[in-house]
Amino acid sequence: MIRSIIKSTGRYLPDRHVPNEYLSELMETSNDWIVQRTGIEARYWVSEGKDFGTSDLAYEASIIALERAGWHPEDLDLIVFATMTPDVNVPGSGAFLQNRLGAKNVPALDIRQQCTGFLHGLEICDAYIRSEKAQKILLVGAEFQSRYLELTTENRDTAVIFADGAGVVCIEGVESNNDIGIITSILHADGKYSGALRVGMPARKSGKAISPTVMENKEHFPYMEGKTVFKLAVTRLPMVTAELLEKANMKIEDVDMVIPHQANLRINEAFKERMNIPKEKIYNNIQRYGNTTAATIPIALDELMEKNMLKSKDTIMFIGLGAGLTWGGVVYKLP
Ligand code: UT7
Repeated sequence: MIRSIIKSTGRYLPDRHVPNEYLSELMETSNDWIVQRTGIEARYWVSEGKDFGTSDLAYEASIIALERAGWHPEDLDLIVFATMTPDVNVPGSGAFLQNRLGAKNVPALDIRQQCTGFLHGLEICDAYIRSEKAQKILLVGAEFQSRYLELTTENRDTAVIFADGAGVVCIEGVESNNDIGIITSILHADGKYSGALRVGMPARKSGKAISPTVMENKEHFPYMEGKTVFKLAVTRLPMVTAELLEKANMKIEDVDMVIPHQANLRINEAFKERMNIPKEKIYNNIQRYGNTTAATIPIALDELMEKNMLKSKDTIMFIGLGAGLTWGGVVYKLP
């Protein structure tokens, strides 16, 4: 049977380290508030004035992952690029990355899905591999969010959370009779909450174009009903975990490590308590990186691999929830 295994990982954080104290100089907030309400202590942003795009963040992480896999860019059958902050509106960042890597003629597919972009990416890659349409895939989660944040008191809820970064995995199709690789996945969406977290522009809806009025209304900045999203996260993440465990015929005790999306440390703490997960079996790094949206999970996975905190045959559960509303999870067993 063909299984989809993660052959290697890589991550890249940009050069500008931004502690909470910097933000408290720009708006009415404080290190204490940000740490207590989100867990975030610092994040990385791309330096101002640098000619850099999301695909450049992804490139730096990709060359690490490719080298660790022992793959050349032209070996790839597919690039899947999850981002909600592409270099330009059209074409997708996958095309820019493909060109920079020199992955000649390799198809490059951009996906959105925001905080669950990487989870959707895993499911897509698994489908390509199991249907034998691809054997070697580069899956990217990358975001460049700092440049569209409004650094004012009015938009401080989003300004203090979102950050830049990239995480990449090389996924390979291998023949195995063992239960390894991507075991199962469940993804959901509920468009009823599409207004709870959104970036309104650029858009074509209602014939709108970017104009001074649209800019004045700040439709090009992220808008978030934080409390609504928070409440949805603390209820739906345990629900989808129960669904995943049932589908995989497992108990929570069988999971060796949970890697949740990093949106707010309090969400992940509430999830841990609710599911009765010991603290050493759930990984958080939002303290150092903030919320890098599609990149949070692959960055965390890369850190865990680097720190040798995962071993052969460990079972991992990736879970997340975000704009859309979209949420879901993937169960993965290390080969
Ligand atoms: O990855 C994408 C998915 N996104 C999420 O999962 C985000 C989920 N939501 C959250 O993380 C939290 O709702 C926030 C961190 C965004 C906000 O935390 P909260 O505990 O829900 O705060 P709140 O919105 O209820 O605001 C409480 C108070 C308000 O002041 P008043 O009305 O009580 O006087 C806010 O104006 O905190 C104020 N506030 C801030 N104060 C200092 C909001 N943001 C800030 C800030 N600094 N950055």
